[in-house]
Amino acid sequence: MTVKWVKKQKNVFWPSKELKQRAWISDKAIYKKAAKNPIAFWARLAEEGISWYKKWKKTYVEKLPYFKWFVGGKLNACYNAVDRHITTWRRNKAAIIWEPEVGEKNRVLTYYDLYREVNKLSNALNSLGVKKGDVVGIYLPLIPEAQISMLACARIGAIHNVVFSAFSPEALRYRLKETEAKVLITCDGYYRRGEIINLKKQADEGLKDTKIEKVVVVKRAGNEINWINGRDFWWHELTKNAESYCKPEIMDSEDILFILFTSGTTGFPKGILHSTGGYLIQAYWTAKWDFDLHDEDIHWCTSDLGWITGHTYVCYGPLLNGATMLIYEGAPDFPQPDRWCEIIEKYGVTVFYTAPTAIRMFLKFDSRLVKKHDLSSLRILATVGEPINKEAWLWYFNEVGQARCPIIDTWWQTETGGTLINALPGIGPFIPTVAGRSFPGTRHEVLDEEGNVLPPGKEGNLVQLSPFAPGMLRGIYKDPEKYFEIYWKKYGNKYFTSDGAWKDKQGNFRLTGRVDDVMKVAGHRIATAELEDVITRHRAVAECAVVAMPHDIKGEVPVAFVILKEKQSEGLEKELIKEVEKNIGPIARPSKVIFVEDLPKTRSSKIIRRILKNLLIDQPVGDITTLANPESVERIKAILKK
Ligand code: WT7
Repeated sequence: MTVKWVKKQKNVFWPSKELKQRAWISDKAIYKKAAKNPIAFWARLAEEGISWYKKWKKTYVEKLPYFKWFVGGKLNACYNAVDRHITTWRRNKAAIIWEPEVGEKNRVLTYYDLYREVNKLSNALNSLGVKKGDVVGIYLPLIPEAQISMLACARIGAIHNVVFSAFSPEALRYRLKETEAKVLITCDGYYRRGEIINLKKQADEGLKDTKIEKVVVVKRAGNEINWINGRDFWWHELTKNAESYCKPEIMDSEDILFILFTSGTTGFPKGILHSTGGYLIQAYWTAKWDFDLHDEDIHWCTSDLGWITGHTYVCYGPLLNGATMLIYEGAPDFPQPDRWCEIIEKYGVTVFYTAPTAIRMFLKFDSRLVKKHDLSSLRILATVGEPINKEAWLWYFNEVGQARCPIIDTWWQTETGGTLINALPGIGPFIPTVAGRSFPGTRHEVLDEEGNVLPPGKEGNLVQLSPFAPGMLRGIYKDPEKYFEIYWKKYGNKYFTSDGAWKDKQGNFRLTGRVDDVMKVAGHRIATAELEDVITRHRAVAECAVVAMPHDIKGEVPVAFVILKEKQSEGLEKELIKEVEKNIGPIARPSKVIFVEDLPKTRSSKIIRRILKNLLIDQPVGDITTLANPESVERIKAILKK
């Protein structure tokens, strides 16, 4: 019998009796209780959720723009994610089920398998000279070795820096150079849409001019690769004779667990720093409560490990909970558009967590395909990455969830480490396009430009209030000025999210998109400045402005306006797009390059991107009399008409 987990009331959805009974959290009093003393609330969660070698002395210390959690506490992330399960009945429970894109058999790693593999790799990394505090680069596709690598780093106190495998060699190089990593873990190749991508070749290129001395190579696709003796080591050879136990390093709660680069408003991505204790506590409890994760669940979050969603909900969150998770190496629509339905059906997935852009892609293709599959195992549907439109929400709810499953729309950021704003399954309500309330123990507000709190219904800037959530970033790698400037300069004692939002009378937040120059392209975060930087480096380009244009499936796509130094040469648009692919990766590819003679500017020479955007979407541009060159607007309009 399939259970209905939701009921409809006054046009919104609420948890059913069955869901309330099952859920970890079903009494909304938790919000009030946590708000009374958030620090004590998190202290209790820290004690209950995580094993500590030594208890902390002070729960929370704040000296803005910095703050610390569980000061003086000692723990190890890998011990918590792996070791503590192997002394329980979960020893041979599936931790990771891996589904390959084509052909071969799937792999199932139990918690004990994971324990063995992680220990061996930890020793192997030690033998390569990796020490506590060193940064290790990880450039791998979605295979269990990626999680094993992250956990092995955590075990020996090394800081992992995962780089998305579809990022270009240039993007890899930038990250390796910035962090001065000496070891990189990669693989020979992997499958994408049936083809083998030679990742080792990309890695080799990205390594040039970096401090990388040793490369660990997973044999995944068996493709031919270049090899440098003494620098390159096969994973399987390194780990074969490695000792089977490696003592976890005792880490401080505030020691950095990982660096993850993300786009800001500048031309180069910045390294977001996450701590050990605070991050793990938020990862553990948000995974448990948001997805109502129980032992019998099969959790499938479709994110790659190269994003924060992958770190927190494809690695640490589920593993800390001793859950079973599924990972899928390939494209969700390969070899046919309902591959993802097939996977849900094949494994009886119960929790499905994906991005609005994926939902819109499935919806657009042919929604009848969903009906061919038995998706009755699903219990919780969740989304992340960008605002979800009503049509996509309703389709996800009605067609995928058969009007049975709550939709948990989670708002958060690379910076926040874990989810922060969403409805909890056992409490609700589940309202299309509305994310929900602040996670218990955290507080958010909507402010105007001057910092005044806006009343319900009024749109403004979303901020987080003190005490800041334990999983929040601890800084930007080697750039304290940027850290202050981006998050703290605007509102002083409140964390500025760079998102627009409004809230309703019940305290539910509706997110309305970024208020800075960051785009969300198919859920990926890309700064307009990054693209502009790449494009203006081209010899033919004098000036460039990139704006985000709305797109049916991807949410937004970048469009580049370019002023040339010389007359337009044949094939220049293609060339510029290639440059972007080479320097960032295919995800940042502009959908169009528009050559113009002039760009609308203020008298102080600032390009007004808002005007370009309005021209693109055929909206009124407003008052342009204060521009230095108002005539440029008509000219661009004419070019766009063509
Ligand atoms: C930005 C952060 C956090 C995991 C993936 C993205 C947007 C994220 C939602 C949501 C509306 C959302 C925001 C945020 N965003 N989730 N549920 N509703 N917008 O992480 O790449 O760091 O991007 O994604 O604009 O600032 P990220």
